[in-house]
Amino acid sequence: MINEAQIEETLEGLFGNPDFASEPSGLYDPLRYMIGIGGKRVRPRLCLTAYSLFKDSLSDEILQPAAALEVFHSFTLIHDDIMDNSDMRRSRPTVWKKWNGNTAILSGDVMCIDSYRRIAKAPARVLPQVLELFTATAAQVCEGQQYDMDFEDRKEVPMGDYMKMIGLKTAVLLACSAKLGALIAGADERACDYLYKFGYCLGLAFQITDDYLDTFGDTSVFGKKIGGDIINNKKSWLLTRAMEKGGEMEKSGVITHGSGKAALQAAMAMKTDSETERKAKIAKVKGIYMDLGIDEDAKYEIIKQHAHAMDYAGMIGLPRVRYEMLHRYAERLLGRTK
Ligand code: IPE
Ligand code: IPE
Ligand code: MG
Ligand code: MG
Ligand code: MG
Repeated sequence: MINEAQIEETLEGLFGNPDFASEPSGLYDPLRYMIGIGGKRVRPRLCLTAYSLFKDSLSDEILQPAAALEVFHSFTLIHDDIMDNSDMRRSRPTVWKKWNGNTAILSGDVMCIDSYRRIAKAPARVLPQVLELFTATAAQVCEGQQYDMDFEDRKEVPMGDYMKMIGLKTAVLLACSAKLGALIAGADERACDYLYKFGYCLGLAFQITDDYLDTFGDTSVFGKKIGGDIINNKKSWLLTRAMEKGGEMEKSGVITHGSGKAALQAAMAMKTDSETERKAKIAKVKGIYMDLGIDEDAKYEIIKQHAHAMDYAGMIGLPRVRYEMLHRYAERLLGRTK
C-alpha cells in the first residue's frame, strides 16, 4: 500500500526541479519562482491520495496529471493577485509586485498552457474523461472568479450566492483533484463521483478557512497580508454571514451596540487611501465580526462542511486503512493555519 511519506516524497520530486523552459527568462522565471517558493500542494496531494485508495504503487501515469493541478492552481493565483491587488503570497512578493502586471499576465498564461501539457499525459484509456473534467473545471474557476469580482461592487450577497461562488472559484478544483486520482487509478464511476463530492465539500471548508484566516490569521504563518478581503470589500464568508446575522438581530430587536447591518455598511464605506485608514477599517470591521460572534460561526461552518466531506468518503465503501488516509488528509486541512 502507498503511504503518506511516499506521497510527500513524490511531491518533493515533482516540484523540486520542475521542467519548465528557460528562455525568455522574463516569461519563465516567474513560473519557477511561483512553483519554487512552494505552496501547501493541497491539490496534487489530494490527487495522489485518491489514486492511492485504489492502487498499491505510485506509477508514472499519475505524476504529470497531479503536477498539472498545482501548475494550474499557481497560474490562477498569479492572476488572482493582480485582480485582488495583493502584494504578498507564500510569504514573498507576488509576481506582479516583483516583476510587473504584464509579466504576471503572460507568465500566468504560459503556466495555464503548461498545465494542459501535463494533463494530456494522462493514460490514453481515460484521456477524454480527464480532459473533459479538467477543462470544465478550469472554466468554472474563471466563472467563480468573475462572481467574486462582481460581488465586490454589491452591498450584500445572499449566503447561497456566496456558496455558489466559492464552489466555482475554489471547490471544483479540489473536487477535480480527487476525482482525477480515482479516474486514472481506474476506479468505478460511483467511487469517482463520491470522491468528487468529498473534494467539493472539503473545498468549501477550505475557502471558508481562507476567508477566516484573511481576517483572523497571523501574517507570518499565513504568508498573505491580513485584512485584504476587508480592504477590497470582498464578500467573504465572514462579511456575508455578518450581514445576514446583523439583519436578523436588528429584526428581532436585539441591541447590537453598533454592530448591525448599518454599522457594517458604514465600516465597509470607510476610506482606504493611507495605511492608517486601512488599519482603522480592518480594526472596525474585525470588531463588528467579534461582537456578532462571526469568528465562531465560521469555525462551526468549516466543521460542518468537513463532516459532509467525510460522509461522502464513508459512502465509497473503502477498506478501513484506505478510508483512514482520506480521513487524515481532511484532518490536516481542517487544522490549517496557513
Ligand atoms: C489559495 O490556495 C487560494 C484559495 C483557493 C484559498 P492555497 O491556500 O492552496 O495556496 P497555496 O498553494 O498553498 O499557496
Ligand atoms: C482565490 O480566492 C481563488 C482562486 C485563485 C481561484 P482568494 O482571492 O481568496 O485567494 P487568496 O486569498 O488570494 O489566496
Ligand atoms: Mg481572489
Ligand atoms: Mg486573492
Ligand atoms: Mg483569500
